[in-house]
Amino acid sequence: MACFFRRCVALQLAEVCGLSEDVFIPLISAVPNVFCSQLQMKRGAVVEEVSAGRGVIHFRLNRPILAQKLLEQLCSEPDGFGVKSELLRHLQGGRTLVEFSSPNIAKKFHAGHLRSTIIGNFIANLKKALGNEVIRVNYLGDWGMQFGLLGAGFERSGSQEKLRTQPLEHLFEVYVQVNREAECDESVHSAAAEFFRRLERGEDQALALWRQFREITVDEYKRIYQRLGVHFDHYSGEAFHQHQTQNVLDELMTRGLLKTTEKGTAVVDLSGAGDLSSYATLVRSDGTSLYITRDVAAALDRKQRFGFDEMIYVTDKSQTVHFRQLFHILLAMGHQWAERCVHVAFGLVQGMSTRRGEVVFLEDVLEEARSRMLNNMRQSSTSKELEEPEQTAERVGISALIVQDFRGPLMSDYKFDWDKVLQAHGDTGVFLQYTHARLCSLLRRHARETYSCCDVSPLVDSRSVSVLQHLLREAPKRRCVFKHVSRWVVLMRFLCVFSHLVAVAHRELPVKGSSAAVAQARLCLFSAVRSVLANGMRILGITPVEKM
Ligand code: ARG
Repeated sequence: MACFFRRCVALQLAEVCGLSEDVFIPLISAVPNVFCSQLQMKRGAVVEEVSAGRGVIHFRLNRPILAQKLLEQLCSEPDGFGVKSELLRHLQGGRTLVEFSSPNIAKKFHAGHLRSTIIGNFIANLKKALGNEVIRVNYLGDWGMQFGLLGAGFERSGSQEKLRTQPLEHLFEVYVQVNREAECDESVHSAAAEFFRRLERGEDQALALWRQFREITVDEYKRIYQRLGVHFDHYSGEAFHQHQTQNVLDELMTRGLLKTTEKGTAVVDLSGAGDLSSYATLVRSDGTSLYITRDVAAALDRKQRFGFDEMIYVTDKSQTVHFRQLFHILLAMGHQWAERCVHVAFGLVQGMSTRRGEVVFLEDVLEEARSRMLNNMRQSSTSKELEEPEQTAERVGISALIVQDFRGPLMSDYKFDWDKVLQAHGDTGVFLQYTHARLCSLLRRHARETYSCCDVSPLVDSRSVSVLQHLLREAPKRRCVFKHVSRWVVLMRFLCVFSHLVAVAHRELPVKGSSAAVAQARLCLFSAVRSVLANGMRILGITPVEKM
């Protein structure tokens, strides 16, 4: 019994401290009876003192030893996030497909697409850190009646010259104009329908134009995503799966899952009771497929091509029903793996606009973030010594956008406000970057960019201890992020509080003018926490800057 009890205590301590329980088992075994009050531990033990109160046991930890153990661990794994063992314990393995961003050709890249890009990138980074093989997929909206309109519009008013110089803008412009014309001119409608029929028939000329729109769009996006620090392994899209939808329909038919309605549509009954009180339409009355039909085809194709163990779709919450229906259909078709398909839904961002007005292009958001940030940096005159102020402003501006997206609960909508997003203080991306850059500058000044652990026993002051304690205390919470990706708020909060504590420590614990032993210990602390900060930022999709 006593042995079991000791083991429990050791486990709990290990959990609290983020260290292995093996550290604690010998210590706890050394306690003859933990219920006795005031037991002195051997000198040099992690637990300095154990005492029993009414229903509680107090453990007083030995600060220098904890600091030493923690910093040794941090220094030995500079690329691990904080405490690598946290990750190791939850290593998942397996292949994860994350589908995110997924804008529509010739249409707006709205705030929802930006949020999907940020959240999807984070999930992919986190899964990668957990040891999974990650496949990043961008599923473009590249098929549907709108391509009839776009094709017909381009034949009327498109310019190859503009398509080369300003591809996204020009496609959008043509698309908006043809929609306007179609409102009052029936002949535009028939031209669009005719163009789409040509596409569906696979007519060379129409397909060549469509292919050009798609290639040009993908090239542009690749360039812009790179500015954002995001990449994809595959650009797929709805068109790609268009020709496979027939196979899906045939399979559904054979399994007796597809029902034809009086209106001439074909549906899958999702009611359970077989009374069509809930259903999904897979074929329109004119025989054409729908968004969900293409998604079923896409899922089957991905499973076959990539053999994923789990698939994660990231879109705003307006598509929740769509994905529920999608997974339901896949399961009804007998694909048990659909149980490992997840839709990560998030709330809507309201009122994101740029100088050009409502957000239409991703690049406008990046430009706006950069110019506003540059302006702020100039006002605080921090940008003077920077070699590349524009690039730094962009990186910092982007981190501000990222942090903003992770601040609140996943499902809540939020109102976007540039001034709030780019604030230099508080829980913002600017503050994280600022703290990181300050640490880099301190370490540069003392030529301590790389680690080495030293005697850190001087780190017993309250500032150092609060930084270290935060690392220890938050470890179990951080671990829960590794179990449930949607709990990233925990990671965000950890980093924000951490950066505030680090900023205070940086301000109040001078290196210059301290004795050599104290200076060394402090530099060791600062280089370790800089790495924790940078690793956490990178998982969120932020590129830490070294100067700002
Ligand atoms: N292109 C879609 C949109 O902009 C998002 C695609 C989401 N993914 C999917 N597999 N349906 O709304």
